[in-house]
Amino acid sequence: MTKSTIIAPSLLAADFSRVAEDIKSVEAAGADWLHMDVMDGHFVDNISFGPTFVKAAFQVATVPLDVHLMVERPDHFFPRFTPFARVITVHVEAKHDVKKTLHAIRAERIMAGLAISPPTPFEAVEPYLDQIDLLLVMTVNPGFGGQSFMPETLDKMRRAAEIRARRGLSFFIEVDGGIYPNTAAQCREAGANAFVAGTALFGAPDRKAMVETLRKSHV
Ligand code: DX5
Ligand code: ZN
Repeated sequence: MTKSTIIAPSLLAADFSRVAEDIKSVEAAGADWLHMDVMDGHFVDNISFGPTFVKAAFQVATVPLDVHLMVERPDHFFPRFTPFARVITVHVEAKHDVKKTLHAIRAERIMAGLAISPPTPFEAVEPYLDQIDLLLVMTVNPGFGGQSFMPETLDKMRRAAEIRARRGLSFFIEVDGGIYPNTAAQCREAGANAFVAGTALFGAPDRKAMVETLRKSHV
């Protein structure tokens, strides 16, 4: 079931007037997961969509949903997504008992992801690395698609990959924000193995070729 490289188109960059068609298109292009950015207008300065939309995507999608909660109280909201998600990712910076939330997500037999924003030091996630299925290293400040990749985040991937190898852990290292073939290649070299791409994928004239390029990208 677990692939060595995951490509997860971010639906935030889809055409919301024809989401079902866009989902079908990226699935046909070879996407492994669909990445869904939930924003509450508090944790980030934007509002995207909530459980009703995620449910609708679930009903048309055949690939698993990778739900990224950019909300202030992920402990309160994550149960609304459990019927539809394969992965639920919460931010270490949000207002909750991180350990308890990760445990509660796993208790639902859902993969627990932990996200870290660019300004947050790596040490913030270190205590939880043995309790997660995925570490989401944000490569832009969360809130909006279409921003430029921040190369200073590469060091977090290297540190996470080093700990993953040293402690025999197997969590995914996912990257999100400004991911294109060139930045994906840098992230892969730093240890990332799950790639979220919004603008790059939905904006590509040939989405299948873009999925393949992202999957194979090397420095
Ligand atoms: C940003 C979101 C991303 C976003 C990425 O807050 O978490 O998933 O959709 O978009 P691109 O790939 O356009 O940077
Ligand atoms: Zn995201």
